[in-house]
Amino acid sequence: MKAAIIYGSPRKKGNTAALLEPFMRELEENGVELDYFDVYEKNIAGCRACLVCQKDNTRISCVIPDDMQSVLKSMAESDLIIIAAPVYAWSAPAPVKAVIDRVIYASCKYYGDDPHGPALLKGKRLALLTTCGYPVEKGADLYEDMMKRYCKHCGLIYAGMLAERQRNLKEAFMDEVKEEHARSFARSFL
Ligand SMILES: Cc1cc2nc3c(=O)[nH]c(=O)nc-3n(C[C@H](O)[C@H](O)[C@H](O)COP(=O)(O)O)c2cc1C
Repeated sequence: MKAAIIYGSPRKKGNTAALLEPFMRELEENGVELDYFDVYEKNIAGCRACLVCQKDNTRISCVIPDDMQSVLKSMAESDLIIIAAPVYAWSAPAPVKAVIDRVIYASCKYYGDDPHGPALLKGKRLALLTTCGYPVEKGADLYEDMMKRYCKHCGLIYAGMLAERQRNLKEAFMDEVKEEHARSFARSFL
């Protein structure tokens, strides 16, 4: 099994990174091959709506020659896509949103002459690992709703969300309970 991990926080040692670490360790310990992308360190432009991708229904395609090419290749080869990012303004941080936008057009061939073209990531699972400042039901709810709709539209199987809140900025974020949540979330994909 192979998983593409899209990591999207500017904080290299922040909450999302701390939650992602045991999650990835659990997957690796169980033989899952991981492709890891720190999208804040990549050059990934926003979708230009040029529609060139819609001229080729046979493959996931995008003409922008940037680091998204390797992300798309990895997603095409993976069984599981993990978006690991904090909630920013009830959604994903801008570099992650660029990935989300690029994927929808590169893989869904509904927007050109053939409105019934294929969804080329169809059947793959997508899951969210996230952290937020507000209680999860008010901090991560709209982000999760958006991504559920996104998965349905792209033919992806929405495989769930692990969301943890940092209750008190003066306290350490990670603890044994969150570590076990991360590990058991990882085991749910095996
Ligand atoms: C620009 C910005 C926007 C944010 N927007 C939200 C939000 O809409 N809802 C929320 O619950 N937390 C929000 N937060 C808080 C972060 O999601 C939270 O602190 C998160 O754990 C940070 O993760 P990190 O340490 O991995 O960067 C925001 C933080 C920033 C910097």
